[in-house]
Amino acid sequence: MKILIVGNGGREHAIAWKLLQSQQIEQIFCVPGNGGTASMERCQNLPLSMNDFEGIGKAALKHGISLVVIGPELPLSLGITDYLQRQGLMVFGPTRAGAQIEASKAWAKAVMREAGSPTAQAAVFTEAAAAKAYAKAQGAPIVVKADGLAAGKGVTVAATVAEAQTAIEAIFQGQFGDSRFVLIEEYLTGQEVSVLALTDGLTIRPLLPAQDHKRIGEGDTGENTGGMGAYAPILVTPALMDKIETDLQNVIATLQRRGINYQGVLYAGLMITPDGNFKVLEFNCRFGDPETQVILPLLETPIEDLLLACVKGQLSQMPPITWTGAAACVVAAAGGYPRAYQKGQLIKGIEAAEALGACVFHAGTQVKDQQLVTDGGRVLGVTGSGKTFAEAIALAYAAIDKINFEGMYYRRDIGHRVKSSVSF
Ligand code: AMP
Ligand code: GLY
Repeated sequence: MKILIVGNGGREHAIAWKLLQSQQIEQIFCVPGNGGTASMERCQNLPLSMNDFEGIGKAALKHGISLVVIGPELPLSLGITDYLQRQGLMVFGPTRAGAQIEASKAWAKAVMREAGSPTAQAAVFTEAAAAKAYAKAQGAPIVVKADGLAAGKGVTVAATVAEAQTAIEAIFQGQFGDSRFVLIEEYLTGQEVSVLALTDGLTIRPLLPAQDHKRIGEGDTGENTGGMGAYAPILVTPALMDKIETDLQNVIATLQRRGINYQGVLYAGLMITPDGNFKVLEFNCRFGDPETQVILPLLETPIEDLLLACVKGQLSQMPPITWTGAAACVVAAAGGYPRAYQKGQLIKGIEAAEALGACVFHAGTQVKDQQLVTDGGRVLGVTGSGKTFAEAIALAYAAIDKINFEGMYYRRDIGHRVKSSVSF
């Protein structure tokens, strides 16, 4: 079986790595991939843009691809699945209509209401004056969200009304993509958990709950990033997990009623509220990054069987998914990230890190003149797995200590909540 993966992050490297554990997989192609996917045996990068649907379709047909797996939200929201399906290809990832669950927060809220999902109260506005007046009337803290995709930067948790109003202005000025709507949302407190579920459009199969660390600084301080680390599994009680699963099932049923056969990953960003219940903060239409880098190393069921069951509508026939152990991923970022940073720094020490037994997933790297150099803000994700969190975290840190590039930064406290043994 040959598989083509679209994307260039740590998530896509982890998916490729997991697939390659199966002897059934003859070859993987990544569009465009990164330095990590370029270095694995039976894996090859194709120098195409992720948004070149025609080029991807032609390459997939030429290479006899059995399944195309789409990593990021942008091509999904632009309809890559619809296009490739029209070429007769099997595609893991929702159609453009389904991807609206991430690409439009107003649409997602409407689906949540219809599905009965517990979520923050929100109001939607099409112009700044009314939005600002509403924010003022509600008072701070309050959450301001751009409707559309904004590369993870479209949400402001405003501590003051003035901050909320600045965020509203910025969204309508187009600083976060071309959102035509602003959502103003009730501020929720609690612990965030990511529950990613596989779905074939009818059946839901949740993966292990994970938690990421979004802030740049230790103690969850400073600016938001694409994710500085993650760990799994989060201990969610069976009763709460059942409620979450029922909610995801209701969302899929709501999408079916709207004529959408949603296949792929439905990723719920949840807030576990202090009363032990949950509220949905957002839905994403894809695997999480860096959650995937801690979930997949723990998966025992062959991933290709699960992905194929989703696209063939056969998920209900799959035996229960099985898992082992715990994992933690520490992200090595370029100095200065999430603001301006340098690219092209030589990366050393990956073999030594891998020799300890860790998985080094590449994100912003490339091979240039036969050397591995940095090529993005989040450069690598180093995952340690073990029987316990203590083992997993110790391995991730021992391994990342072997790696260096100029300006390399990473958080020293990934998994800190595990140590205070939080469970829900
Ligand atoms: P979203 O893209 O909607 O998940 O928002 C990004 C981040 O903003 C979330 O991971 C939360 O940390 C935070 N956030 C979003 N909505 C809320 C809310 N209603 N209350 C508090 N924090 C929120
Ligand atoms: N880890 C956050 C995301 O993938 O959106």
